Amino acid sequence: MSSSSIMSRSRRILKEKGIRGLLVKMWLRADRARLKLLERYYTAQFHKIYYNKPDTVQGVHWFGTKVQKLPSDLWMYQEIIHETNPDVIVETGTADGGSAMFFASLFDLRKRGEIVTIDILPCKASHPRVTKLIGSSTDPSIVEKVKKMADGKKALVILDSDHGMAHVLKEMESYAALVPIGGYMVVEDTNINGHPVDPLFGPGPMEAVREFLKGRNDFVADLRRERLLLTMHPGGWLKRVR
Ligand SMILES: C[S@@+](CC[C@H](N)C(=O)[O-])C[C@H]1O[C@@H](n2cnc3c(N)ncnc32)[C@H](O)[C@@H]1O
Repeated sequence: MSSSSIMSRSRRILKEKGIRGLLVKMWLRADRARLKLLERYYTAQFHKIYYNKPDTVQGVHWFGTKVQKLPSDLWMYQEIIHETNPDVIVETGTADGGSAMFFASLFDLRKRGEIVTIDILPCKASHPRVTKLIGSSTDPSIVEKVKKMADGKKALVILDSDHGMAHVLKEMESYAALVPIGGYMVVEDTNINGHPVDPLFGPGPMEAVREFLKGRNDFVADLRRERLLLTMHPGGWLKRVR
């Protein structure tokens, strides 16, 4: 707001509400700015407390299968699925299969959709909607297989495997084209390497996202997906806009 419009607004409030009204308005305005700063500070501090407590991130289960995700991030996936209506989820990094089972349960509720999940290691969990591929997510034969399976379908891409920058960047380049306009590619764990946790990790998902976005304008970080404040993927909820 320009200084002249602040002045004319203040004059109007002074006329309508008197000096007390103007002072209260000014105090509320300053308080909003103060709370915004506190929000940033306390969210980062709580993020560190949550992340470093052994039974938080590592203690989440979906009907008994371990899920390495924050419950509020799982909730955000539910909102994305409802809003963007993907046919298929392409997930890199299966681990115990908890996230794939969670997505399969959501797809059961809407009675359609499939999940393709990729890991270098096998996983015991299974579900009729889930196809497990064993191999590296950036291996050209795996990428080709996934592209065939997702051909003609709207994909939600979730990258949660090797978190080194080079690997994540390669995954983004391999799978971005599967995402329709309006859809999402979520780069997980952008919080590591000091954003704000695990400061010694080295270049990881956040750095891969920055590099990826430098050269293109088809994806943007959708900050609305961070509105629940705590997310393991700050700046990583990438929406395809063109
Ligand atoms: C963070 S865990 C995945 C967690 C899972 N998505 C969840 O939310 O419960 C990362 C997984 O990536 C796998 N991984 C590591 N390097 C990989 C690669 N190059 N390709 C595919 N998976 C890989 C690991 O074996 C591990 O199981």
